[in-house]
Parts: sequence; structure tokens; C-alpha cells
Amino acid sequence: MYCIKEISSDLVWVGANDRRLAMFEGVYSVPAGVSYNSYLLKDEKTVLFDTVDKAVRHRFLENVTSALDGKQLDYLIVQHMEPDHSSALEDILTRYPGVKLVCNAKTLVFIEQFTGFDINAFIVKENDVLNTGRHNLHFVMAPMVHWPEVMVTYDSTDKILFSADAFGTFGALNGALFADEVDFNKEYMDEARRYYANIVGKYGTQVQSLLNKASALDIQMICPLHGFVWRNNLSNIISKYVLWSTYQPEEHGVMIAYASVYGNTENAAEILACCLREKGIKTAMFDVSVTPASEIIAAAFRWSHLVFASTTYNAGIFVSMEALINDLVAHNIQNRTVAIIENGSWAATSGGLMREKLGKCKNIRIIEQTVSLKSSLKTSQLTEIEAMVDAIKSSLPGPVDNKSEIKDSEAASVDPKAMFKLSYGLFVLTAKDGTKDNGCIINTAIQITASPLRLSIAVNKANYTHDMIIKTGKFNLSILAESAPFRIFEQFGFKSGRDSDKFAVCSYNERTVNEIRYVTEHTNCVISAKVFESYDYGSHTVFIADVTQSFMLSGEPSVTYQYYFDNIKPKPKPPQEGKKGFVCKICGYVHEGSNLPEDFICPLCKHGSQDFESI
Ligand code: FEO
Repeated sequence: MYCIKEISSDLVWVGANDRRLAMFEGVYSVPAGVSYNSYLLKDEKTVLFDTVDKAVRHRFLENVTSALDGKQLDYLIVQHMEPDHSSALEDILTRYPGVKLVCNAKTLVFIEQFTGFDINAFIVKENDVLNTGRHNLHFVMAPMVHWPEVMVTYDSTDKILFSADAFGTFGALNGALFADEVDFNKEYMDEARRYYANIVGKYGTQVQSLLNKASALDIQMICPLHGFVWRNNLSNIISKYVLWSTYQPEEHGVMIAYASVYGNTENAAEILACCLREKGIKTAMFDVSVTPASEIIAAAFRWSHLVFASTTYNAGIFVSMEALINDLVAHNIQNRTVAIIENGSWAATSGGLMREKLGKCKNIRIIEQTVSLKSSLKTSQLTEIEAMVDAIKSSLPGPVDNKSEIKDSEAASVDPKAMFKLSYGLFVLTAKDGTKDNGCIINTAIQITASPLRLSIAVNKANYTHDMIIKTGKFNLSILAESAPFRIFEQFGFKSGRDSDKFAVCSYNERTVNEIRYVTEHTNCVISAKVFESYDYGSHTVFIADVTQSFMLSGEPSVTYQYYFDNIKPKPKPPQEGKKGFVCKICGYVHEGSNLPEDFICPLCKHGSQDFESI
């Protein structure tokens, strides 16, 4: 019985999943299986994009037959000749004798090598176009992503990139087909990284070349040969490819890989990890004799700092560690800071040998403070571990530790009103913790980078929404438009979510993919983001976050801080005769009395005394 999935009215997924495969390519464990994707385009001419692995050949052939629904197959495009995508090629040629094979010249050589066939194929080259009726298929060469013959195909009609191995993921599809049907970042990003690092990690330059070509195309959907189809939030995976292909770490933190025979090297690695954590540095640890190398290689692509701790074995590096380091070097790991712990009861050589191997990689900075153990770590060596921690910490970016006082002469030139001339927007920042929804008004959201798409927000710690973001690491920004009435600012800005439901008056209940509510009225755009890093700045926390979803709600102009003051915020009422006090310029709250303490915080909007003026 066939099992196909419709992508659009004339495009069908006809691939299949394999959950019985133990080792992909005989090397990479795939505990969650793997999908072999193939796509059938049903235009005036029918086109099949690649075939599948022999393990799922039978299901695939049923799928193609069903999807064709009696039509003949006109073209088979071979984008990649590796047998996990070409094992059913012979079946297709036999079953559909009229089919025309479309490939490039290199592919033809591989077809002859693998099958012995002398095929009369339609040979294409860069920028050639195949018209199939409504669709125009453009061929883009992508050598070494992952083999030299690889090409991808761009359907300029529906703006779909058939990307071959690029943007693939380990893992069976389990009934879903689109990345937005699952929690991709939580459930599949690790496998996408493991797939990338191990399959094409070595070929960063070639991947960058493909990304450059792709950046010139209007791509609305990506159909890879493994894993999910991307139809939304394409920047989520593209931004990762930009990082991975340039060997830039995704996260600042330390991956510790250790090889330990009797637990003493492991103990030193554990102590190092504890010391790093005490300094607030993220850590991930792997026993290289237990964890498959493919997982550690993927982690090495993720983290900025790598520590290798190995005992000496047969006068060399311990076997599993040596294999891992050879593998990492083969995968072209670059741009990392590395630290080394060695162990040797009578002649420690592993440290020097690891240093020598890793030193051949590009832009690898090896920290000088190597810790050398004689059988086990001694108390007297804790200072060496601390020196390594300090060296790692000082090489990590972070808030500048500059406590020098501002000189009077410098402070004298600061006019606080200058801050009001910065052009701020106004946003409803929403978060969710369990079943509790909450939101507050902020005016500090800015884009930091385009690739990855990343922004920063600053949130007052007194806000309940702040605590929710600290806990969950997720938030939404609803960008308010000029039509926003004052009641929205009252609703989200002038009371605390700790003792009220800020959404109680809302007739809407829309949520983004991250399940957080957003404001549907007087909002021109919604952005969802996931916290990447946070910095404590006393009264506020600055969150740096990756954009995970965004969409437009209207073309109305965004409200600015200035516009709010000029057009939305009610003008303060004239003070009552004889009454003394201070009014908050932000929300209008009145503090009665003749003095306003310097550390006074507005109970409504949480602004400080500097935003009050005397009545
Ligand atoms: Fe999925 Fe390079 O084959």
C-alpha cells in the first residue's frame, strides 16, 4: 500500500522512512531512523526528483505508481548519485521505459560506474532550464555538497529549491513532512547539526558557495533528500548553515570530551566542568569511549571551546580519543579555542600528540595551560585547573568588567533628555510559563544581526514577564502600530501580571508556534524569539534572542516613543490647588508628597525617579 504526502496541488512526496537501519553509511548511528525523500512533480510533463535507498525501494515504487495515477513518467532528475538516492534508478528505468534521465556530465560517469549502464541522458549544466509546462526547473551545480556530481534544482514557478543532501536531517518523518509540524529546534535541530557536521561538515567552502547561489533566488520552500520540507521560517535552518559552513560556533561554552581507562582522567574533566559552571560557563561532556563520534563531532560544531582529556595508551593517545580527533580534523573543524588535559602514569605523551594533530586545523587556538596528570589529579594541581578555567573564561566574550568610575567632568556633559531623542518603538512583550500567559510594554527591541536573525531586548527585572523569559527562554514581540489606543498601554503596562490576568479582557486567543499569545489588534507585526544569551545589567536583563517566527499583520506604521507621547498618552491633568507631588512622565502615576526618593520606582510602569517631574 502506498504512503504519499501532498506538498502542493502538483507536487507529491513519494519517499519512505527506514527505522531498521543501524548505521547510516555504515558509520553514523540513526536511532530515530532516516527518511529518503523523493518528489514527483505532476505538470504537463511528470518529473521525479531522485529515487531512494534499496531498503525502502519497494514502498517507493508503490508510491510513485500511486502518485502518477496512470500518467507516464517523463523525466527522472538525478541530483545526487550516492546509492541512498539512486538505488531504485534501475527500477524506474525498467518500469517507465519512456522516461528521460536528466543529470549532469559528472553524474553520468557515476551512473556508469555504479550500474554499468550506458544511458542516453539529457545532460544539463549550470543555469540550464527544463520547462515542464507550468514549471521552469533551473539547474544549479553544487559540487561536494556532498559528492562532486551534486546539483540542486530551483523551480522558479513555485519558488521551491530541491536541495539534494543540503538542509537534510537524520530521523524518520513519523507522519509529519514539514518542519513546522514539529518542534524542530527542540526535537530535530541536534540531528540536523549531526547530519550536517558529519555528512558535509568537511565541505564548508562548497556549502557557502551553494548558499551564495541560493541567496540570489526567491526561495519559499526547501525540499531536501533527507528529513523535513521547509515551507516556513526558512531562516531558521539557513542561518544554521551559515554558521556551520563558516565553522562559527553556535554557542559560547565548553565541550569536554574525555577518554579515561580507570576514571582518573574523567575525574579531572569533571572537576574542570564544575569549576567552569561555577564561573557561569556552559558545559557539555562526553565520554568518547561511550558516545558515538558523530555526536561529539556535532557538538564540536556547536560549542566555541573544546577540551580534550585523554590518558596515554601504548605511548600514544587513547584509541577512542585518537579516532575522534582524527575524525574532527578530517571534518575540517576550525575557529575554536582548545584546551588539553593529558594523563600518563610513567610517560604522558597524549597531550603533545593531541596538540600536534589539532594544531594542523585552521584557526585553532590552543590554550597554553595544559594540565598533565600522573595517574590522577592532585590537590596541588587544582591551581592548574583554575588557570585553565581562567584562560577559557578570558577568551569568552561577555559583559565588559569595567568598574572604573565615570569622572565628574565626563558626567557633567550628560543630558538625560538626550535619551528621549533616540527613536524607540513600543512593543507588547509576551511570555508563557505553564498555563500562565503574561505580557508587558517595552521600548527596547532592536535587530542585532541578519544572519543569524537575532535581536536584543532589555526588560526590567521587576516585570513578571522578565521572570517568565528567564525561566522559559522564549517570548513574542507584538509591534504596536500608530492606531494603538492608550488602553493597550494601560492593559499591559500599568499593572502586574503576578496578581492579574492581562489577557482577561481580550476577545482573541491567537498563539504563535511557540504557544505564546500575541496581540492581534493594533499590531503590525509579530516576532517570536528564543533566548540565545542574557546579560544582567542591574535593573534590567538584556536578552539576545534568535528569531524563530515572524509575520505581518498590517501595513500600518509602527508607533514610536515620540508618537506615543505626542498622540496617545493623555495629557496630565492640571494639579489640584495646593497639592504637592511628582507625576510619572511615562504613565501619569502621581506620587504625593514633597520629596521623591532617588531610588523611587513607579509602581505602575517601573520607570525610575528620573522619569518623574514635580507637579
Ligand atoms: Fe544522502 Fe550524500 O547522500
